[in-house]
Amino acid sequence: MKALVLQGSPRANKSTDILSDMLTKKMKSKIKDLKVTKIYLREKNISPCNACGFCEIKKGCSIKDEMAEIYEHIETADIIILASPLYFGNVSAYAKSVIDRCQMYWSSKYVLKDPIIDPKKKRIGIAIACGGNSYKRQFDGLKMTCDIFFKSINTKFIHDIFVDNTDRINIQDREEIKDLIGKIMTDVLKELEEEIIDNSNL
Ligand SMILES: Cc1cc2nc3c(=O)[nH]c(=O)nc-3n(C[C@H](O)[C@H](O)[C@H](O)COP(=O)(O)O)c2cc1C
Repeated sequence: MKALVLQGSPRANKSTDILSDMLTKKMKSKIKDLKVTKIYLREKNISPCNACGFCEIKKGCSIKDEMAEIYEHIETADIIILASPLYFGNVSAYAKSVIDRCQMYWSSKYVLKDPIIDPKKKRIGIAIACGGNSYKRQFDGLKMTCDIFFKSINTKFIHDIFVDNTDRINIQDREEIKDLIGKIMTDVLKELEEEIIDNSNL
């Protein structure tokens, strides 16, 4: 079983990074032989999508850069965790470049009608985001982006962990987050168990 963390914060060991580690630590304690790959997107040379239209004619992306490595991880992961700070009501630019470069998956599904990502393979998605302030509907835009992203990569978006006030309260001091991660794990295990049952019926 493979989990992929797309870490969209430019800051290591800050709220978003710590939160994704809290989740993957819990996952490792519950899922035997889980292999977790965390990619710090700020360390990768990934160009934004330039809307060249290549992926609407042929499968794949015309831009050759370090996104190739991320495509490979996305295509083989069972669990995909998209982690980002809240920037101007959405994901960071690092995360957005990766999301936009997944347009090739969207095109393969809806334009070429020949999906690159096997729609029959069960994969689950979790979105993590930290917002420095606290205000109404703070995460709405980011959630919509994550929803479209996970649909494009044939991944069931099962949960989000959105934490506000991270510029004021340390993420480690938030007991409610530990409780939430515990609840999310129950759903993760349920989804993965269903997949095991599905496979045994084939
Ligand atoms: C460019 C930028 C834009 C931001 N925009 C928002 C925002 O729209 N809403 C918000 O609540 N916090 C905003 N923040 C604060 C961050 O969301 C907050 O500091 C968060 O904890 C950063 O995540 P990190 O600690 O993992 O780096 C912004 C910070 C930066 C640097």
